[in-house]
Parts: sequence; C-alpha cells; structure tokens
Amino acid sequence: MNILVTGGAGYIGSHTCVALLKQGHSVIIADNLSNSKSETVMKIMDIANKEVTFYEIDVTDAEAIDSIFRNYKIDGVIHFAGLKAVGESVDIPLNYYYNNIVSTMVLAKACQKYNVNRFVFSSSATVYGDNKVPFVETMDLLPTTNPYGETKAMSERILTDIAKANPEFSVALLRYFNPVGAHESGLIGEVPNGIPNNLMPYVTKVAKGKLEKLRVFGNDYPTIDGTGVRDYIHVLDLAEGHVAALDNLKIGAHVYNLGTGQGTSVLELVKAFEEANGTEVPYEILERRPGDIASCYADASKAKRELCWTAKRDIISMCRDAWHFEKNYKE
Ligand code: NAD
Ligand code: WQD
Repeated sequence: MNILVTGGAGYIGSHTCVALLKQGHSVIIADNLSNSKSETVMKIMDIANKEVTFYEIDVTDAEAIDSIFRNYKIDGVIHFAGLKAVGESVDIPLNYYYNNIVSTMVLAKACQKYNVNRFVFSSSATVYGDNKVPFVETMDLLPTTNPYGETKAMSERILTDIAKANPEFSVALLRYFNPVGAHESGLIGEVPNGIPNNLMPYVTKVAKGKLEKLRVFGNDYPTIDGTGVRDYIHVLDLAEGHVAALDNLKIGAHVYNLGTGQGTSVLELVKAFEEANGTEVPYEILERRPGDIASCYADASKAKRELCWTAKRDIISMCRDAWHFEKNYKE
C-alpha cells in the first residue's frame, strides 16, 4: 500500500517508516522538520535499503496536502506530525491547538475528498489523566493538566465523529505509553531539543557525561520504591504496532493502548540501565515534578486480541539500544 506518513522524520515516525518498508509498503513522508532533520530520511532509506518519497511541508497547509493526495494514490495515512512537549504546551497553547488539531482536520478533509478510508492516529496515554492503573481503553478519560493532552483527546473525538458519519472510514487511535530506545543500528533514535524533559534521554545524557546527575522527581509516591512508575515501550515494538494497526483496521473508530503492560519505577530503570550498559548513572532525589502522576501503565490486552500485536522487547534492550544510539550520536 502507499502510506502517507506525516511526521515521518521524527522519532516514532522514522522507526515506523522502516517497519512499513520492511513489510513491503511504499512510504511518502510529509514533515516540516520543525523537530527533526532531513538526514533522518536518508537514514531510513539506508536501514531499509529502499527509497521513500519526502515532502518538506507543513501538514496544516491544506493546499500542500491536497497536492500529495492528487499526485499519489494514497491507500492510508499514519498521522504522527504534532508538537509534543507537555510543559511548552502550557506556555504556548495556541501553537499546540493550531498545529495538532488543524493538521488532523486538514488530513481528514483530504481523506474525505480522495476517498481514503484508512487512518492511524498517534494519541497518548496522557488522555487517561490520573486514572486507576492499569489504564483500559473503556475508561472514562479524565481531564489532562495541559493543552498537549487536550489536543490528543480532541483529535480522537474529531476522528471518532468522522467515523460515525462515514460508514466506510476506519481509524485506529493508538494511545502510546512511554516510548524509549532506538533502532539497533544506532542510526535513528530520539534527539530531544536542549535539555531533555523525559527520563530516558536524560539518563543517556548523564551516562555520556553531558549532564552531571539525574534528578529523580519524588520518592514519596505510593509505588514499589516511592518513585514514579511508567510503562516504557521499545520504539521498535511501537513501530510494529502501527503496521499491525494498519493491517487490522476495522470500520469505525477503535482505540488501542500500545504499551507493555509492565510498570517500571524511575530507580528500577536506572538500575536496568546500569546493568545493561555497565555504566553508572549518578542521581539525586528532588521534589515531585508538578503535573506528574504516581503510576501509568497499560492494560495491553485489547491490542493483543484485535491487532495480534504485543510488545516483545524488555527494559534491558530498551536501555541498551537507547545508549547505543546516544553513544554514536554526534551533536
Ligand atoms: P517527534 O517530534 O520526534 O516527531 C514529530 C514530527 O512531526 C517531527 O519530525 C516534526 O518535525 C513533525 N511535525 C510537527 N508538526 C508538524 C506539522 N505541522 N507539519 C509537518 N510536520 C510536523 O515526536 P515523536 O516522539 O516521534 O511523536 C510522534 C507523535 O506521537 C506525536 O504526535 C506525539 O504527540 C505522539 N506521542 C509521542 C509520545 C512520546 O513520548 N514520544 C508519546 C505519546 C504520543
Ligand atoms: C517518566 C518518569 C518522572 C525526568 C511524558 C508526557 C506524556 C508522553 C510521554 C507524549 C516520571 C520521572 C523524568 C527526569 C525523573 N508524551 N523523571 N527525572 O511524564 O510519564 O510522560 O512523556 O504523549 O504525555 O507527559 O514521561 O519520561 O518525563 O517521566 O525523575 O529528569 O520519570 O517524574 O515519573 P511522562 P517522563
């Protein structure tokens, strides 16, 4: 199939492009490179040993998107393009609402016009808010504390309403838990802007000596050791989850958790990282980070049942591959 991958030069998108090419799909990437580099597109082709078509365009640009649909027979869309920094979304909410919602609407409109009925959307476990773990797809969503999370909940609603109105439209709303790790080649991985907000990229920078020590945000949560618990998922498993979602699309809107179902605390992750890589990760305990919840992990059984997909890679391989990428990465 010809798959339009928006945000395909980004972290999760690039790994998914490799997985799609491996399965024999053709890939057209639309990315404005606001949080990625064009070299990544070359690296995708190197890894997969296949060509991809790349357009440096903004997905909120309806005319540019229309011209892609006009020129190619698009069979399906995977929509990764979006702004994703939770803290930044509080400071510049309008950018987040505009970018993340308008891009979804522009794509949905083009799908309607060109009769493209396969759509896969990048949502986030953030939409569950501070719910009871494990998070199940049938739970009522709780309000999130930031505009970023709201853009995901709103995009889910928009796509669900479109599916209700169009009996031929099928959309998978994929709620990712905490993606980490990198391709085993070390060629593509996560490259955060500036000082990382997320745990794994912070840990790899400490291991590399670029940052002095990890700041552990709180050790008084009701968890195994008091530190926050998350469901880390290897980005390669996540990428394969997208291929499975595309292969198993059903008419209507369907929500799937993409997680491992396993919770790991901050200190457990630090220990796994040290064990996997034989490096030390010095840390200090600080206050809780505002907006954080104690625990977040998936009930991953629906994706297993309906998409025939489960995450296969463990926390040790996540730590190993994250470090392998960081070690090779030239800033
Ligand atoms: P990323 O920033 O690495 O990739 C997003 C890509 O989209 C970037 O290459 C960026 O340049 C591009 N982009 C952004 N706005 C665009 C626009 N208007 N037009 C064209 N391109 C645009 O992020 P990622 O981690 O790969 O995340 C991909 C998607 O998954 C995002 O929608 C994100 O919200 C969602 N998600 C990410 C995580 C995570 O922790 N990484 C968790 C849950 C959900
Ligand atoms: C994980 C744990 C922190 C950094 C965020 C977004 C979410 C999703 C994934 C997009 C927590 C602790 C972290 C550090 C620490 N993104 N931590 N020191 O907050 O679960 O999720 O990314 O959809 O929407 O909110 O991920 O990696 O920031 O934090 O102690 O320097 O690590 O307190 O317990 P989070 P994270």
